[in-house]
Amino acid sequence: MVFQVKGKSAIVTGGASGIGEALVKRLATLGVFVTVVDRNADLGNRVVNALVKQYGPHFQFVKADVSSRQDMLEVFKQTKARFGKVDIVVLNAGIDENIDYLRDETDPWANIFPVNVHGVLLGTRMAVAEFTKQKTPGVISITASMAGLYPQEYGPVYAASKGAVVHFVRGLSLSTAKLTPKVRVNCVCPGVVLTPLLFEGRGRPDSPTHQPSLMQMPPTPIETVVDAHMRAIEDEGLNGEAIRAASGKRGPELVKFQQVKTVALSGIAKL
Ligand SMILES: NC(=O)c1ccc[n+]([C@@H]2O[C@H](COP(=O)([O-])OP(=O)(O)OC[C@H]3O[C@@H](n4cnc5c(N)ncnc54)[C@H](O)[C@@H]3O)[C@@H](O)[C@H]2O)c1
Repeated sequence: MVFQVKGKSAIVTGGASGIGEALVKRLATLGVFVTVVDRNADLGNRVVNALVKQYGPHFQFVKADVSSRQDMLEVFKQTKARFGKVDIVVLNAGIDENIDYLRDETDPWANIFPVNVHGVLLGTRMAVAEFTKQKTPGVISITASMAGLYPQEYGPVYAASKGAVVHFVRGLSLSTAKLTPKVRVNCVCPGVVLTPLLFEGRGRPDSPTHQPSLMQMPPTPIETVVDAHMRAIEDEGLNGEAIRAASGKRGPELVKFQQVKTVALSGIAKL
C-alpha cells in the first residue's frame, strides 16, 4: 500500500541545504505542503522563496534549532496554524565531527549529540504526539548514516550518534506499530554525499578529522538519498527499517539486520 503524499503536510528539518533541500524540492513536485526548518534563516528563506515562486504558496520557513524544545514546539505550532495538520516529519538536520576525539581535550559530543540524537528524540516524540492527537496516520523518516551501520576510524562520535538513531528507530517502531492509527518510523543511511556538511567537515583538508579515503569513495547521488526518504515515507509496509542509500547502481535498499528475537527483559539472561 502506498501512503499518498499529495496534499499532505510535511516538516523537514535541515531543509535549507544539501539532502534536506533536495528532499523539500521533491516533496514540492508531489504537491506536499512543506514547513522547512533550519537554524540558517538566510538559506531557509532562499529555499522557500524559490519554491513559492515555482509551485505556489504552500511552503513556509521556520527558523529553529532542532535541539531546542521551545523552538520545536513552535515548529509544530506554526505548521498546524498554516496547514492545519502534520502528516510527515523528516528529521534530517545533522552536524559532522571536526574534533580529533583522542587528541583534543574538548568534547565533540557536547555539540554533536544535542543535534544528531537529542534533536531526533525530541522531534520524534512531538511528531507521534501530534499524529495521536489528530487521530491520523503519520510517518517519520530520519537521516542516519552508513557511519551508523559500520565501524569507521574517523569521526567515531558522529558514528555513535548515527548508530544511536538506527537503534532508536528499530526499537521505537515496535511501539508505534501498536498505535491506532498506525505511526511508522524509518531511517535512511546515506553514504558519501557531496554537500556542505562534507566539505566543511571531514572532507576539508585542514580538518583534524580529515579523511582522504572518504573523498576518494564514489559519491552517492543526492537523488538516491531522496529516493530512500520517499520510500520510507510512501511504502506503508515499512516500519522500523534502515534504508541504505549508498553509491552504486542498486539504489536504496533495506538493511538486513541479523535477526535477534525481541525478548522480555527477564528473558535476556537466557540469550
Ligand atoms: N553529506 C553526507 O555525506 C552525509 C552522509 C550521511 C549522512 N548525512 C546526514 O544527512 C543529514 C543532512 O546533511 P547534509 O549532508 O545535507 O548537510 P548540510 O550541511 O548541507 O545540511 C544540514 C542542514 O542542517 C542544518 N542544521 C544543522 N544543525 C541544525 C540545528 N541544530 N537546528 C536546525 N538546523 C540545523 C544546517 O543549517 C544545514 O542547513 C545530516 O543528518 C547528516 O549527518 C550526510
